[in-house]
Amino acid sequence: MSIDYDRYDRIRAVQWQGDHLRLLDQRLLPRAEEWIDCRDAAQVTQAIRDLAVRGAPAIGIAAAWGVVLAAQQGAPLEPALAMLRAARPTAVNLMWALDRMKARITAGADAAALEREAQAIQDEDLAANRHMGELGAALIAPGSGVLTHCNTGSLATAGFGTALGVIRAGVSAGRIDEVYAGETRPWQQGARLTMWELVRDGVPARLIADSAASHLMRSGAVQWVIVGADRIAANGDTANKIGTYQLAIAARHHGVKFMVVAPSSTVDMATPSGEAIEIELRDPAELLAVAGQRTVVEGAQAWNPVFDVTPAGLIDAIVTERGVIEHPNALAMQAMFGS
Ligand code: MRU
Repeated sequence: MSIDYDRYDRIRAVQWQGDHLRLLDQRLLPRAEEWIDCRDAAQVTQAIRDLAVRGAPAIGIAAAWGVVLAAQQGAPLEPALAMLRAARPTAVNLMWALDRMKARITAGADAAALEREAQAIQDEDLAANRHMGELGAALIAPGSGVLTHCNTGSLATAGFGTALGVIRAGVSAGRIDEVYAGETRPWQQGARLTMWELVRDGVPARLIADSAASHLMRSGAVQWVIVGADRIAANGDTANKIGTYQLAIAARHHGVKFMVVAPSSTVDMATPSGEAIEIELRDPAELLAVAGQRTVVEGAQAWNPVFDVTPAGLIDAIVTERGVIEHPNALAMQAMFGS
């Protein structure tokens, strides 16, 4: 498949600078393109917690660089690992990257060796995304329309993206004609971030209100819903941004196919099913205001889970860099990822 990476893979939001980590502040996009310089593991932890850097693979990569900063400064590494690990609970890429760094530490790696490991984690993610782009796009019939949710692009990864990588590859290869992105309330990852990426790439895309998704599917304009993942359990149940589950239900009802795209670092074979995945609850204030402006009556309360679990039975394909699993279940997952 011919993919024009010069056009479709130009954004790098996580940039190692040798002695500090530079992050494109995703809280401000698209209004402002400002960079944050993290100079120790505590600043990286804060950036992950506050969503300055977000998206499952990107927070794993950032955390790995946080460990490198601690090592360069001669800081105790166990507390740094523990602090970074506790930054957010749902995306397993965070724990996966820290476990990988910890294994190198246990093997006696110095700061330079840890730097090479973090760079490998970042480079492998980019390579995985490009490979998944090809695998996922190959499932899509030419002339298709697709709907995506949240932001799974270069901002959320080392580059190119997972679900957005498949969309980029599909557009580049002439298989996808129409792209729709849901707003992704309350944090607006779709409206603020995915649309920013697609407009920069010159991909014609249309934003929809999250609540317009079923109506869109009924219209026949989309053949696939394509999403990323924060954790895929051993039976294929998939945690992703809140609202993904209702998209999967609506897709099945309308005969629209549902694809999950994630690197193997998102697969957690130690978690048997979605029920065991911890769902992050964030500050209800995120729901009670828009852009810092209170929109809900004082005294009102809110419940703000930011992920949900889509059961494997609603997923038509899980695409990882190791290959595609159609109709995922525990057996197929074990065959590809071991136990
Ligand atoms: O809360 P966020 O913005 O970090 O949530 C991100 C998502 O849910 C993404 O869909 C997921 O991490 C995959 S990113 C390639």
